Amino acid sequence: MKVQIPRGTQDILPGQAKIWQWLEEKMREVTNKYHFEEIRTPIFEHTEIFARGVGDTTDIVQKEMYSFQDRSGRDLTLRPEGTAAVVRSFVENKMYGDPNQPVKLFYIGPMFRYERPQSGRYRQFVQFGVEALGSQDPAIDAEVISLAMNIYREAGLKNVHLVINSLGDKESRAKHREALINHFRPRIGEFCEDCQNRLEKNPLRILDCKVDREHELMKTAPSILEYLNDESKVYFDKVCQYLTDLGIEYTIDSTLVRGLDYYNATTFEIMSSAPGFGAITTLCGGGRYNGLVEEFGGPETPGIGFALSIERLIAALEAEQVQPDIHNGLDFYVVALGERAKDYSVKLLSELRNNGFSADRDYTGRKMKAQLKSADRLHAKFVVIIGEDELDAGIVQLKNMETGEQKEIKLATFIEEIKQFAV
Ligand code: HAM
Repeated sequence: MKVQIPRGTQDILPGQAKIWQWLEEKMREVTNKYHFEEIRTPIFEHTEIFARGVGDTTDIVQKEMYSFQDRSGRDLTLRPEGTAAVVRSFVENKMYGDPNQPVKLFYIGPMFRYERPQSGRYRQFVQFGVEALGSQDPAIDAEVISLAMNIYREAGLKNVHLVINSLGDKESRAKHREALINHFRPRIGEFCEDCQNRLEKNPLRILDCKVDREHELMKTAPSILEYLNDESKVYFDKVCQYLTDLGIEYTIDSTLVRGLDYYNATTFEIMSSAPGFGAITTLCGGGRYNGLVEEFGGPETPGIGFALSIERLIAALEAEQVQPDIHNGLDFYVVALGERAKDYSVKLLSELRNNGFSADRDYTGRKMKAQLKSADRLHAKFVVIIGEDELDAGIVQLKNMETGEQKEIKLATFIEEIKQFAV
């Protein structure tokens, strides 16, 4: 049997998991302040949700999905992203009828893409994402972006910057599309097969091609910003104005098209500029997807959101050498010597835990010195020492591991006494 983790996945071991918990807590705290509520959707959906939602000319749908048939022949896919699934749930649960609009949702969970694994790119990764559905106010665009920026700030990152673009509304995009086709068509033979297929179906995708990135026509391609109609321009200016008001610096990049098809109007990415951060510098991506709710059979409802992966956030923390503020939870380590004392410690541990303390003991029959070393390694705040003599006398020794101070405490009043100082 091959005892090996699948390629592109990773185990989050206990020490590392503490960092994940710390980050997840930070995300929940920040998101709570912005009044977004958690939604949990299934890990797999009908394949169609992503094929139609994300778009069947995208790399994600064409090359990266973990799709399978279940025993009844249903076509299912492990979710490669969260937005299409959240919008499916929004429509199915008629959240558009909720009197509180926009509906502001967030999620944290694993996503799956069959990509070429490298630093910062996994086949299973955890996304934290938010979606605000039901508002076409540029202030919500700024709110969503500022939420993402705040998460990075709260996590302790300094070297992040925002890149923003507008893909315009339907009318602007139609004009831009035509210009792109005219631009690429005469020399499309010089492009990869994917690009050739994309020319008529979705020429915007050509701009996102990883193979032909350096082709000269890429650099001279018509910019969407020149094709924005007045309404789209005013909207985008307003988003930028709000960002400035919030003190959020940004760069406008008209080549930012994103890898998913549902986007229109505002799109953005947050990048790491930390020296030593890997080749993939995008930490977070998002934008507007007005039209997706209708695509799934709901009423006309605008939407905007973003997603970031915890893996890339942790990589950025490492690149910036940020030390997460993580405390070890152990309050008491009980050192019990002799059979009777060990039996008693079972009850004592339970009492400590029932009174809100974290507590542990040795279960491998080690000598006192080794047990004290364990307590030290586990950063226990206090050690309780019970031997047979102590038990007969109805006392325990309590050692404060920080000060080294040791004192005797009566077993009968143990919990009451420790509550005075071990809080
Ligand atoms: P996305 O740009 O495909 O957008 O992914 C968002 C973020 O997920 C990326 O910026 C990156 O942090 C992380 N990510 C993507 N692929 C991987 C991978 N293979 N390994 C590690 N991290 C990865 C979306 O998924 C959209 N649903 C975002 C969105 C939400 N737009 C609107 N609402």
